[in-house]
Amino acid sequence: MPDRSRQTHGETRPATETHPTPALVMNRRLIRDKYREFRSQFPEATIYYALKANPHPGIVRLLQELDCHFEISSLGELELLSEMGVRSRRIISGNPVKERAFVERAHASGIDLFAFDSYPEIDKLEECAPGSRVTVRLAVPNDGSEWPLSKKFGVEPREAADLLLRAGERGLKPVGVTFHVGSQCTRPATWAVAIEKSKLVWRMAAERGLSLSLLNVGGGFPIEYLRPVPSTAEIAAVVRRSVAEAFPEGVELAIAPGRALVGEAGVLAATVIARAERDSRPWFYLDVGVFNGLMESVGGIRYRMLTDRGGPAVRCVLAGPSCDSFDVIAMEAELPDLQVGDGVRIMSAGAYTTAYASQFDGFQIPAVHYTE
Ligand SMILES: Cc1ncc(COP(=O)(O)O)c(C=O)c1O
Repeated sequence: MPDRSRQTHGETRPATETHPTPALVMNRRLIRDKYREFRSQFPEATIYYALKANPHPGIVRLLQELDCHFEISSLGELELLSEMGVRSRRIISGNPVKERAFVERAHASGIDLFAFDSYPEIDKLEECAPGSRVTVRLAVPNDGSEWPLSKKFGVEPREAADLLLRAGERGLKPVGVTFHVGSQCTRPATWAVAIEKSKLVWRMAAERGLSLSLLNVGGGFPIEYLRPVPSTAEIAAVVRRSVAEAFPEGVELAIAPGRALVGEAGVLAATVIARAERDSRPWFYLDVGVFNGLMESVGGIRYRMLTDRGGPAVRCVLAGPSCDSFDVIAMEAELPDLQVGDGVRIMSAGAYTTAYASQFDGFQIPAVHYTE
């Protein structure tokens, strides 16, 4: 059952009242609570925050204070964490494809765990990060995920075992398996399927004399946009049960949540800057759109929107401010009959919003603010 006790912010005091829009207002307490929820539901796991979800320094600082580890992909992310004093032994790279310069710098700074899923990447790691520990990215079903990631990465168990053995021959330390069930995954059983599949890699590697120890079950933990989602506790129960069944001898467990740690803590404050009637339907234009914060709406993520304007909901189109017709947040929305100047609070917007945003067409990336 969904956890109804979860709280959001921005419902009583509009963030638009205190900050010029567009602005992303992050609630520190909700991030802290979410981290503690993960900590208590996965007591034995190392928690790596997937920095890509929202790399704002205030979030890094907060998670650092909570003793969280970090998962990164790029030089830019590495530089950010280094500048903020995050120690390299708290950082891993989960990106199966990496730039050479990134691998060199990551290795030089002391990061020693990298994901990979191809032979050329072994060559790169051997040259740029000799002796590092490596996990192979396994292809797993993304059933129930609203933002699937399965097409781009991952190999089947036989090839995964082959790759790990080859990495070992090249002086790397093959330690285990990593997977991702797809972002915003609302089907806990998908983790169970992926864990069973990981066990096959363990078995195949063991048959060839390679003993593995680390299982990274990735991110994918969902947040509440419009509909209730399974709680962290429900997913953790499935993961723990599946791990106990598949790995009775024990395994070192890692998780890498991004969206779930910060998503519900963010409210994106926007303002209606224009309205028009087109094909007998109102179009409301906000000062935030697909390019400067709501990129995921293109992939189907639908946000809950709150406004102080009363009255019945009308069928409308919601669009961003830029002069590009791709900049449509929702072709089918239902909102009160908004007027120019009205504030709109876009809920659960703390992840993959400002992180994706560009200044396309000269529109501002929302400033990030914090509340306690
Ligand atoms: C390697 C890796 N780990 C973790 C994550 C975080 O996923 P999520 O935000 O769905 O928790 C991602 C997201 O793309 C990823 O690529």
